[in-house]
Amino acid sequence: MKQMFCVGNWKMNPSTARDAFRLAEAIAEKTKVYTRVTTVLCPPFPFLAHLSSLSVTLGAQDCHTEQKGAFTGEVSPAMLKDQGCRYVVLGHSERGETDQMVKEKVRAAVRVGLVPIICVGEEKPGTPDVLQERLRLRLEGIPAQTLSKSIIVYEPVWAISTTKEGRGASEKDVSSALLLFHSFLEEEVGQRLGSAIPILYGGSVNEKNILSFLRAGAQGALVGGASLSPKEFGSIASSMQLYEHI
Ligand code: 13P
Repeated sequence: MKQMFCVGNWKMNPSTARDAFRLAEAIAEKTKVYTRVTTVLCPPFPFLAHLSSLSVTLGAQDCHTEQKGAFTGEVSPAMLKDQGCRYVVLGHSERGETDQMVKEKVRAAVRVGLVPIICVGEEKPGTPDVLQERLRLRLEGIPAQTLSKSIIVYEPVWAISTTKEGRGASEKDVSSALLLFHSFLEEEVGQRLGSAIPILYGGSVNEKNILSFLRAGAQGALVGGASLSPKEFGSIASSMQLYEHI
């Protein structure tokens, strides 16, 4: 059975370091028994250092393309590594970045040993051609050695809980999108490397619908809103632990 990934993207939550610590502590307690699941918490930058004493795997929500220099307000991959991060979410649709920018960030992250979690998704449902093109624009040209050290997330913009449509994708939507992802990756980096790259799903994931995304073939999930509830996030991780068909 494959390793699963349960990644919590806290976005700009919670408001204080104290609440962040409590939340991470409660999640660590709920998820530590799920040995098959790599649980990653991605808090806002200022909370990373506060959480490094806990036994949680940390990720960041973004990084810069350079490791240091005159870039006001930015945070480098090297700094994240130093703060104990192992993962970094890149290209989230809420950031509105260009594909070129995302590719440069992916390379910069891998250079210091961070695992990029690269988001790819279309704006409107039922537009597979747009999704195919997005995949190409976002991932084409990233060296095979770099891409094979990454995690890819199918995160349709329309399925994110806080967007206007915000309704989550169906099992069928996700399974047909994942087929596109698998064939793209295998063409890009070869069958052996391509089939080993984990592909997750993100968008309105909760404890009730997680199984449908696993059935669709996702090797885990990028969870927004539900990652702020230890009970719900723990229950999502538990479904991953128990799922036997991947
Ligand atoms: P929701 O789970 O709240 O839809 O957020 C998804 C997301 O944007 C994760 O990165």
